[in-house]
Amino acid sequence: MPLVLGIETSCDETGVGLVRDGVLLGDALASSMDEHARFGGVVPEIAARAHLEALPTMVRTALHRAGVAFADVEAVAVTAGPGLATAVQIGLAAGKAFSLALGVPLYGVHHLAGHAAVDTLEHGPLPPRCVALIVSGGHTSLLLLGDLARDPIVHLGDTRDDAAGEAFDKVARLLGLPYPGGPAIDRAAADGDPEAVRFPRPMTGTYAFSFAGLKTAVARWVERHPGPLPVADVAASFQEAVADTLSRKAVAACLDHGADTLLMVGGVAANNRVRALTAARCAEAGIVLRVPRPALCTDNGAMIAAVGDLVARAGLAPSPLTLGIDPNAVLHGALLPAGDR
Ligand code: KG4
Ligand code: ZN
Repeated sequence: MPLVLGIETSCDETGVGLVRDGVLLGDALASSMDEHARFGGVVPEIAARAHLEALPTMVRTALHRAGVAFADVEAVAVTAGPGLATAVQIGLAAGKAFSLALGVPLYGVHHLAGHAAVDTLEHGPLPPRCVALIVSGGHTSLLLLGDLARDPIVHLGDTRDDAAGEAFDKVARLLGLPYPGGPAIDRAAADGDPEAVRFPRPMTGTYAFSFAGLKTAVARWVERHPGPLPVADVAASFQEAVADTLSRKAVAACLDHGADTLLMVGGVAANNRVRALTAARCAEAGIVLRVPRPALCTDNGAMIAAVGDLVARAGLAPSPLTLGIDPNAVLHGALLPAGDR
């Protein structure tokens, strides 16, 4: 089984991971989050520069933690999209250089496939079929997954506007909480009453998502509220609306498609209330819930190595060195460009 080096640079985390045969041997993560905080969101050029500076150290650290040498690497997997163009570019250039220098195959990975694949490092192989809920800063999708390496991915529903993580980030700003908003709301909500404000549950009855209306409802409520803002209560009430919407749709999708397993991944899957409510509803419906530990839900290098490991073991053809980035890649399969392999 090949030792796979995974590289992730699609947003503000510089992640490197080493995986062999479904086992995470070592990883390293640097974040430029603090450099973006004063702008209230990720600045692509700052993120790209930070990747360039952090990547060599992250590779060395991951190799050291895994107890392997650079020359032991037998395949390179790298995020080729979606993500911030300049940021993805840095990782892909590094991945190509490593692949060329070592004379090993290169796999251009779809970032969201990485979010799904990372769970195999913690909970073993995925079942032959499952429903996956991917909830990240840029994407919210309900999917039907078969063999992640080989089968096309079926979209049951996607967000029509803001992604769940984006809604957390925007609402955090409205409440004067720092970037990134998800963890800040998670913490603030711990002391709040989730029933203090009944915010709307958008688009019940379909598998599609829409969080822009919910965000606007919070903005209107904040505007109309006299006196000091009850930040904890608003955070908890907003978080409850998101958790309710996500878990309700995900469980319905499992029941409607006869899937006995729900895989919940991406940054928002790190949220305490989203995890707890989804776990309770899955238990009630007899559905097995798989969620990676919070550190593997947010962007990291292990998730990209996990995809490389799956596709290498499945015998898929590597990507050409002419591979380009695809900042807006839609998720159809584990590798980019999507197509027959
Ligand atoms: O998957 P991810 O690390 O990056 C993307 O691929 O977008 O997701 C980042 C998103 C951000 O919007 C962040 O606010 C959100 O995940 N997030 C959370 C939590 N931790 C991260 N949202 C809610 N609760 C959390 N604990
Ligand atoms: Zn991500």
